[in-house]
Amino acid sequence: MREMFMGRQLKLMIASAVAILFILLLISTLASAAILVPDEVDALKEIATTLGKKDWNFNRNVDPCSGDMGWINTTAPKDDQNSVFCDCSFQNYTTCHVTSIVLKSQSLPGTLPPELVKLPYLREFDVSRNYLSGGIPPIWGTMQLVNLSIIGNRISGPIPKEIGNISTLANLTLDFNQLSGTIPQELGNLTLLEKLTLTSNNWTGELPEALANLTSLKTFRVADSNLSGSIPNFIQNWKNLEILVIQGSGLHGPIPPGMASLTKLTDLRISDLNSNNDSTFPDLSQANNLKYLIRRSCNITGELPGYLASMTNLKILDLSFNKLSGKIPGTFSTISKTDYIYFTGNNFTGSVPSWIQNTGDNVDISYNNFTVESSINQGCQGAKLNLFASSSKNNSMGIVSCSKSRCSQNWSSLYINCGGKEEKIGDRSYERDTDSGGPTKLYSSGTNWLFSNTGHFINDDQDNDNYIYSNTSRILLDNESQLYMNARVSPLSLTYYGFCLRNENYTVKLHFAEIMFTDNKTYGSLGRRIFDIYIQGNLIWKDFNIADEAGGVNKPIVKPFTATVTDHTLEIRFYWAGKGTTEIPHKGVLGPLISAISVDPDFPVPSEHSLSVGASLSVGAIVGIVLAVLFTISLLLVILWWKGYLGQRKTMAQDLRGLDSQTGSFTLRQISWATNNFDAANKIGEGGFGSVYKGNLADGTIIAVKQLSSKSRQGNREFLNEIGMISALQHPNLVKLYGCCIERDQLLLVYEYMENNSLARALFGPEELRLNLDWSTRHKISVGIARGLAFLHEESRLKIVH
Ligand SMILES: *[C@@H]1O[C@H](CO)[C@@H](O)[C@H](O)[C@H]1NC(C)=O
Ligand SMILES: *[C@@H]1O[C@H](CO)[C@@H](O)[C@H](O)[C@H]1NC(C)=O
Ligand SMILES: *[C@@H]1O[C@H](CO)[C@@H](O)[C@H](O)[C@H]1NC(C)=O
Ligand SMILES: *[C@@H]1O[C@H](CO)[C@@H](O)[C@H](O)[C@H]1NC(C)=O
Ligand SMILES: *[C@@H]1O[C@H](CO)[C@@H](O)[C@H](O)[C@H]1NC(C)=O
Ligand SMILES: *[C@@H]1O[C@H](CO)[C@@H](O)[C@H](O)[C@H]1NC(C)=O
Ligand SMILES: *[C@@H]1O[C@H](CO)[C@@H](O)[C@H](O)[C@H]1NC(C)=O
Ligand SMILES: *[C@@H]1O[C@H](CO)[C@@H](O)[C@H](O)[C@H]1NC(C)=O
Ligand SMILES: *[C@@H]1O[C@H](CO)[C@@H](O)[C@H](O)[C@H]1NC(C)=O
Ligand SMILES: *[C@@H]1O[C@H](CO)[C@@H](O)[C@H](O)[C@H]1NC(C)=O
Ligand SMILES: *[C@@H]1O[C@H](CO)[C@@H](O)[C@H](O)[C@H]1NC(C)=O
Ligand SMILES: *[C@@H]1O[C@H](CO)[C@@H](O)[C@H](O)[C@H]1NC(C)=O
Repeated sequence: MREMFMGRQLKLMIASAVAILFILLLISTLASAAILVPDEVDALKEIATTLGKKDWNFNRNVDPCSGDMGWINTTAPKDDQNSVFCDCSFQNYTTCHVTSIVLKSQSLPGTLPPELVKLPYLREFDVSRNYLSGGIPPIWGTMQLVNLSIIGNRISGPIPKEIGNISTLANLTLDFNQLSGTIPQELGNLTLLEKLTLTSNNWTGELPEALANLTSLKTFRVADSNLSGSIPNFIQNWKNLEILVIQGSGLHGPIPPGMASLTKLTDLRISDLNSNNDSTFPDLSQANNLKYLIRRSCNITGELPGYLASMTNLKILDLSFNKLSGKIPGTFSTISKTDYIYFTGNNFTGSVPSWIQNTGDNVDISYNNFTVESSINQGCQGAKLNLFASSSKNNSMGIVSCSKSRCSQNWSSLYINCGGKEEKIGDRSYERDTDSGGPTKLYSSGTNWLFSNTGHFINDDQDNDNYIYSNTSRILLDNESQLYMNARVSPLSLTYYGFCLRNENYTVKLHFAEIMFTDNKTYGSLGRRIFDIYIQGNLIWKDFNIADEAGGVNKPIVKPFTATVTDHTLEIRFYWAGKGTTEIPHKGVLGPLISAISVDPDFPVPSEHSLSVGASLSVGAIVGIVLAVLFTISLLLVILWWKGYLGQRKTMAQDLRGLDSQTGSFTLRQISWATNNFDAANKIGEGGFGSVYKGNLADGTIIAVKQLSSKSRQGNREFLNEIGMISALQHPNLVKLYGCCIERDQLLLVYEYMENNSLARALFGPEELRLNLDWSTRHKISVGIARGLAFLHEESRLKIVH
């Protein structure tokens, strides 16, 4: 009985244990109930092989959709870089299908897998930024893809017409590949297409008429290509279009009138149209939501349309390099809040409106035909307004606005280490060019050169633009390798402008090296930088590609050109004409890049002239010499003045008139503006007789202002005559006196500015300011000083004893 009872208890226990086990089993099978269908597991294996994807692990007996394999993740955000997504809701949550494969930025080395068709539920395939080659499999036309992106690979061949059968397709992004052929008209069947981007491929032919049917399009981009024909008027059908980008595409102008129907546009960029016809400014009066309006280099004529004034949402307005004319009305002040305004390279006339002068942040009106009044109270550099050459050469001042107006001498050479520090190579001294640059930047502190940059790095997701690029690897090939360690880059247009050059022929050598890309078989090595080069306004190289010319990246290439200088100026311009990649190796425009510029004379340079000393002596040294002598002269002047040689009958202002014929006169307002109201930051020296300030005149000339301690003295004609005579003294080892200013209590002498401060500081100053001079340089300095003194003592008309 008892045994029987115990036997029954045991049975009960076993039964409940089995039940629990069964429940546990049930729970566990429920938890992993949904599994990827085996066919798709096999398909994934094939796809991995074709793509060259090695880190998918199929060895473990784990379901790919469970997430346990580390590469399939149903919980990750959709923009993940490395994911396979499954939909496990099939057959009452028991079966999974792969719906999305996203493998970005992995430099996968394989080809595009035709096996994708074995994943019938696949809606998204994104292999952006890899190293895939081969063509687009036509069999993909049988799929029901919604998103297809192959951005930034090496895919070649045509777009198979079968792609036109993927009627579900909403986003088709093919940018930055090596696709070619014509755009198939079958794409016109993709009536759900919202986004079609074709940038940086080698397309030929015209855009097919059938694309007119793409009425759902919100984004259309084609840039950096070889299309032909004009921008089709059928784009007027694309009424939902928000983003339209046509840059350096090969398409012709004019911009069709149908553009007026695109009222939802927020981003319109049309540039570098291959056009021989002029076009007028297209009607965009209904496109009130525009944030980006870029119409660069489209041969647009006529005046600015009035409706621009109502485009108050604008962030970028780029109308550079057209033929726009007329005045910029004052009423356009409504757009003054636009982040960047580029009017560079047009034919605008009239005066610069006050809203540009006063509130124009990041406004570039360089290379125009404005009337620049001499009273213009605006800086040419430093401020976020670029006025370089904004008035024509024929204006009342007779000079290119914002360049140096006077030359103390004419040079026979020019060497710039673009983006880098001063470098001495052989007997050539490459000047420093380390200014950080900017979107509307005029830098004018070079000895006889300046640069003017227009443009910022649009869409690069960076807060701070960098206009200098530094080499991370090494270029060892060359004894000039220092020149290639840094380079100046520009997103759009960069002009180096040499002045005070002798009117002769020169050999211009442009030094390049592609230091931004790698060649290590990653997607980063697929970048292409292409830009145009102009010398003296003539296009001398279209579609220049540094890496192609040099035979690879990180290799130097020097291109020599001959240039004729006729009015003492030399202009070298680098321009991005919409060609090349913009998102490879990273987002943002790849504009021109220049490592160094050398300009050598094609003529014999007179050797006894001290200019030849200047050529071989470092600039700093010669500068020091002149400054030393300059201080001597000021000393002498002040002594004369104190000794009362200078009588006191007439007012200075009256006397000044007599001086005009001999030397320049400056107003106190001009000089206080130039020195930022004698800002302590501009003070470059303090002598026994007053302070010396650096200043920038409105025309860009850099000056040194000596402020003689004001003792409310009055001078007279004699004193002014002395200044006049001294200013007439010209010697290469003497600093030029531009003129003076006598107003109220102020007595100011305005000299040519010398970059490296005084010789005393160079030789005897604090260690960190001293120049490192070798003996031959020191010898040349001594000779230079002796020459200067000999001139003062013996040779000049006015004998001055030091
Ligand atoms: C899935 O993605 C989420 C979010 O990115 C992450 O936290 C998680 O670790 C991932 N799981 C696996 C198995 O990779
Ligand atoms: C789906 O499963 C739930 C329980 O998990 C069940 O209640 C339901 O009846 C099932 N539906 C079908 C159609 O099998
Ligand atoms: C297509 O891509 C977009 C953007 O990444 C995403 O929001 C959308 O869900 C994708 N569609 C499908 C069907 O995967
Ligand atoms: C297409 O891509 C955009 C983002 O690029 C996304 O917002 C949109 O949802 C996608 N369309 C579809 C149908 O997935
Ligand atoms: C697809 O495009 C071709 C060529 O444009 C056209 O002839 C054909 O009718 C289209 N098919 C459909 C289903 O729209
Ligand atoms: C583009 O295509 C044209 C003609 O098909 C060919 O001559 C040219 O070399 C191609 N350019 C590139 C960069 O592949
Ligand atoms: C647009 O599509 C319709 C059919 O949907 C077709 O008849 C027409 O030819 C297409 N238009 C063009 C220009 O291909
Ligand atoms: C603009 O038109 C002129 C002729 O009027 C032509 O010479 C020039 O090449 C055109 N510019 C561009 C960028 O196509
Ligand atoms: C510039 O504009 C002026 C006056 O509007 C005109 O006379 C001149 O021909 C224009 N120059 C060019 C190159 O279009
Ligand atoms: C500048 O304007 C003047 C007069 O309006 C005109 O004669 C000249 O051709 C213009 N210069 C340029 C470069 O268009
Ligand atoms: C400059 O070179 C051109 C030919 O390239 C020649 O005609 C001209 O005379 C030269 N000018 C000078 C100043 O040597
Ligand atoms: C390729 O070069 C880039 C830049 O130097 C580097 O970040 C990357 O790791 C390299 N990739 C490979 C696979 O060597």
